[in-house]
Amino acid sequence: MTGPEDSYFYLDGCATAPLRESVITCMVKAQKRGWGNPSSLHRIGCDAAESLERARLSIANSLEADRSEILFNSGATESAHLALLGLAKTESPGRLVISAVEHPAVTAAAEQLLAYGWTVERWPVDIHGQVQMQHLDRLLEPPTKIVSIIWGQSEVGTLQPIEAVGKACRSRRIPFHTDATQVLSQGCPNWSELPVDLLTASAHKCGGPRGIGLLLVRQDILERIQPLLTGGQQENGLRAGTECPVLAQGMAAAFRDIGPCQDNHVETSGSGIAPLRDALLARLCQNNSIRLSGHPTERLPHHLSVLVSDRHGQPMSGRALVRALDCEGIAASSGSACSSGRDSDSPILEAMGVDPLWRRSGLRLSLGYWIDPATVTEISNRIQNAIDRMN
Ligand SMILES: Cc1ncc(COP(=O)(O)O)c(C=O)c1O
Repeated sequence: MTGPEDSYFYLDGCATAPLRESVITCMVKAQKRGWGNPSSLHRIGCDAAESLERARLSIANSLEADRSEILFNSGATESAHLALLGLAKTESPGRLVISAVEHPAVTAAAEQLLAYGWTVERWPVDIHGQVQMQHLDRLLEPPTKIVSIIWGQSEVGTLQPIEAVGKACRSRRIPFHTDATQVLSQGCPNWSELPVDLLTASAHKCGGPRGIGLLLVRQDILERIQPLLTGGQQENGLRAGTECPVLAQGMAAAFRDIGPCQDNHVETSGSGIAPLRDALLARLCQNNSIRLSGHPTERLPHHLSVLVSDRHGQPMSGRALVRALDCEGIAASSGSACSSGRDSDSPILEAMGVDPLWRRSGLRLSLGYWIDPATVTEISNRIQNAIDRMN
């Protein structure tokens, strides 16, 4: 799947990443003992409960959190819904501020709040997709009661100034949620030092299993949050439904493999996967028909997003290019996984002020540990072939 001899290159890690070997090993082991229902009183249930709590403890260690602050759920979509709707349920209506470049998981949850008398305001972004800090004071004024900003944007890779926004929210006592789904694959943040109250993550973007994610919640907010799913006391009464220790063990193994990120700073260049990304970009940019979208430096280290034009300088269809790339043996995406199934303008590129003509010509290439750096020339040649084929 990853080398030229395998003839197919997977460059869609932001959609989902292949399972890490350590995750598979850990899950196979966990399945043997932890397959029971953690709520059952017999020994099979106790083994499962122990496995679940060991996974929680391991994740707490990876994220420098207390294990009581970790709520397991089905993934980032559910997590973002619990963060926003679960918290809003206990507040009188106010204003929710989200960035103009949120993933649909957050925008959809935000829109549900409108029915409960909340207003939703989108924090404008610049041409690179970063929130414009000159709006901070106005946006954090009353009636703002919750703020939610995506940490690493999934479609264009831009990193947001989470520390600065989080500190500003904290000084005003406004709960701050960040969707960190694309960031955790690049390093586990230190929750104890992060000025964030609620953090959403998903295992399958990190080489862990599909179907499990988590919401990190500060103790004082835990007391205020209401469950969305009821009917059982699992997850401290905040998420009913039988837990899956095996998936939790898989997520824990993925985070152990990934390791910490230094000083809560996403490494954007220099080490890790970034040099591979830069080498690929340099080769792609030799072709005049490709230009980078998103932030040139403050971006996820494994993420490349580009706008592609044809030989006449006109925008190329991102979706058509993804199909052509597949024929060349490259898996890529024309935007975020959740929107690339539809042929419509990218709302993210729109929010960034990209000319309407170009809003369907985005291509996302997302890399990961499974790619051999020695294959970068082969990958760029294949991308070039796909573009040539469409010209
Ligand atoms: C930033 C972001 N948030 C949320 C999600 C939804 O994740 P999940 O598939 O775990 O529900 C995704 C998936 O693409 C994402 O990239």
